[in-house]
Amino acid sequence: MKLKKENLLLSFYGENCCRLSLGPSKTFPSSIALVPKLSEKPQHVAQVLKSHKWQKQPLKVSFQKENFSFEISYSKNKQNNQITGRIFDQVGGYPALAIDFEKNDRLMGLGAAASGLWRNDTKARLLNIDTVFYRREGEAYSTFPFLWKFNSKSSAAIFLHTPLPLRYEGGTSEAVFYFERFDENDCLDIFFFFGNPAEILASYAKITGLPYLPPLWALGFHQSRWSYKSEKKVLEIAKKMREHSIPCDAIYLDIHYMQDYKVFTFHPKNFSDPKKMTSQLEEMGIKTVAIVDPGVKVEHGYPVYEEGLKHDVFCKKKNGDVYVGKVWPGNSVFPDFSREEVRHFWASWHDVLFRKGIRGIWNDMNDPVLQIGKDYDPLEEDIWHNGQAHYRVRNLYANYEALSSWEGFERYLPGERPFILTRSAFSGIQRYAALWTGDNHSSWEHLRLNLEHVLNLSLSGVPFCGADIGGFGGGPGIRGIFKFRKDRELMARWLELGYLMPFFRMHTVLYSYDQEPWSFGEEILQIARKYIRRRYRFLPYLYLLFLQASKTGEPIVRPLLYEYPHLQDVTENLFLVGKNLLAAAVLEKGQREMELTLPEGLWYHYETGELLEGNKTYRISTPINSHPLFVRAGTALPTAEPMRNTYDTLSSGLIWDVFPSQNISGEYYLDDGKSPSPNQYYRMVFYGKEKKGELEVTLKEEKKGYEPSFDKIFVRLPQGYNTAIFQGKEITPRLVSLQSDGRDIRISEFLLPRRSGKITFKKT
Ligand code: GLC
Repeated sequence: MKLKKENLLLSFYGENCCRLSLGPSKTFPSSIALVPKLSEKPQHVAQVLKSHKWQKQPLKVSFQKENFSFEISYSKNKQNNQITGRIFDQVGGYPALAIDFEKNDRLMGLGAAASGLWRNDTKARLLNIDTVFYRREGEAYSTFPFLWKFNSKSSAAIFLHTPLPLRYEGGTSEAVFYFERFDENDCLDIFFFFGNPAEILASYAKITGLPYLPPLWALGFHQSRWSYKSEKKVLEIAKKMREHSIPCDAIYLDIHYMQDYKVFTFHPKNFSDPKKMTSQLEEMGIKTVAIVDPGVKVEHGYPVYEEGLKHDVFCKKKNGDVYVGKVWPGNSVFPDFSREEVRHFWASWHDVLFRKGIRGIWNDMNDPVLQIGKDYDPLEEDIWHNGQAHYRVRNLYANYEALSSWEGFERYLPGERPFILTRSAFSGIQRYAALWTGDNHSSWEHLRLNLEHVLNLSLSGVPFCGADIGGFGGGPGIRGIFKFRKDRELMARWLELGYLMPFFRMHTVLYSYDQEPWSFGEEILQIARKYIRRRYRFLPYLYLLFLQASKTGEPIVRPLLYEYPHLQDVTENLFLVGKNLLAAAVLEKGQREMELTLPEGLWYHYETGELLEGNKTYRISTPINSHPLFVRAGTALPTAEPMRNTYDTLSSGLIWDVFPSQNISGEYYLDDGKSPSPNQYYRMVFYGKEKKGELEVTLKEEKKGYEPSFDKIFVRLPQGYNTAIFQGKEITPRLVSLQSDGRDIRISEFLLPRRSGKITFKKT
């Protein structure tokens, strides 16, 4: 079906975003990807028989009727940028959208659509699909038609708002989105974004929603495998975490916790008393997350199936019969989450899990997998959603499911922030869930892929994302279900990357060796402990980043171009965590040193304390237990002493780790870590100025109904600062070696009361 080029619709959203639609309708299309309140009424409606020009400073839009080309330009302060492109019919009729780019432009985004950091010269299919252990390049579990263009001066992005399957081809001068299907009443609906990367993501969040604030425990280290097959085994893993002093916040129950893989059941023998197990885990400070697959076993007498039939919740075939596919439980039927009443139905079953103490829901196989183990085309299946063909709904299925899980939390655990982990997703998922990138493998290639995916997902509006740490399967294709060869070095490097990823979970396949922090011998255990503990040390900083993400849409982990769009030489394995931490991942076997170019400014090497100048290239040594990590000079990094879990860590106190420069600043935020909309919190800001070897610091507290459990704080400064004056009193520091944290430095540590005030730190 060709695009009916009848009406041209245009709206401006704020200063740096506009939306252009072409098609038969006079209103914009809506979908679950967009925030519910976004108006469907365009500000301008025009006929495509003529060319058009509109302007709303700083944006200008022009459309040429001859070849359906457009130019959107943006000019503000010193930023000038434009996006040009055209809409055309493919051979065979379906439309396509081409976006132009210059030779030196760098394209990013599209979530986890393909490997590689850049989306130039890349091919991908934008359709949610089980990749079968990443069998084919360019297939992914999730879909984000959100593409960025960075050039030496600025950035711009487009969001092609359609749930329909697309093929993407990023060539050398044009990036083209080809529709694989298209219907008579469909239109081409495109959002354009300009400004700096933070402004682009803020606008994108206005359109598709802000990321939700997860419960604090979701930011900790999580342990999983397919599967811990009994309560005894789960408890054993928890005990070992504690024995080995590995902080841990969650353990996952994969499909074996169920009876015959029946969703919302527990195995009567192996999980006979789940409530007791989850209570014991809670006592150890560990939450339990359970997998929930959408495929419901066809079995008479099984309540989810029987009730589902009674309430007519399952997807149908064209002839009206319930569609029966095959997943883990054998013959299975699929809830039609696109219907509100079905989402209510499904949400109500979550109570079964929550009552037993489950606190996180892991939505898997929600691409959805319809015929497991078969080489089939999901779009050819005779499965319908409320009268709509599968290809129209498939890409949104997981978002609808997440909405239903969210409702389950709201109904049965109303005082808690939901934790939903999803494999499949479409734009907008950030409002409800964290995303992991599915069945990767334990290979060096997929270690790199982890970083590439997280960076591109972060730019696609999904800050809370990650990959299976250590790798999940044994390789591409169905044989990936076996994994035999342990690579200890790979595991070490993966932990060194994973602890900085927003979502941090170890997980492995069914037929695999054990993959816990202690399963690779003493050396790797020590590396695991070092980095997992460092994750918890950085937790106050990370939590602040998650809070900021939920208010602004900014990512946690950022590609260098996010902060430095003008960078010409990008060291590809360098990335930022917030603005102030800069890390390099070691991605090659045997690599014991690395060449990297630091971005502008001054940076402290976290482990050696050395101060390095930006815009220069360095060789940094990377022994197996160390990766390059830098802190921006001028950072007062809020940190904490690692404890057994996130909650204990944040309750243990606040340590300002100060990396001096002329101006120093930092921010600290704390709340109860679980209330859905936290309006009770505690904040402290740190401002400092360094003058002639003295450091003048102002600490400012802001209390909104939340009082931290500690009343003293620590300030850590480089060795040499040996007195502090606070309210007329002299305070002497303790000299502390940070060797046990893997840092080859000694610092001066000052103990101060937790309150607002001015402090002078002196070197004498
Ligand atoms: C899928 C998931 C994987 C899980 C397995 C069994 O392959 O991606 O994480 O362990 O199913 O449930």
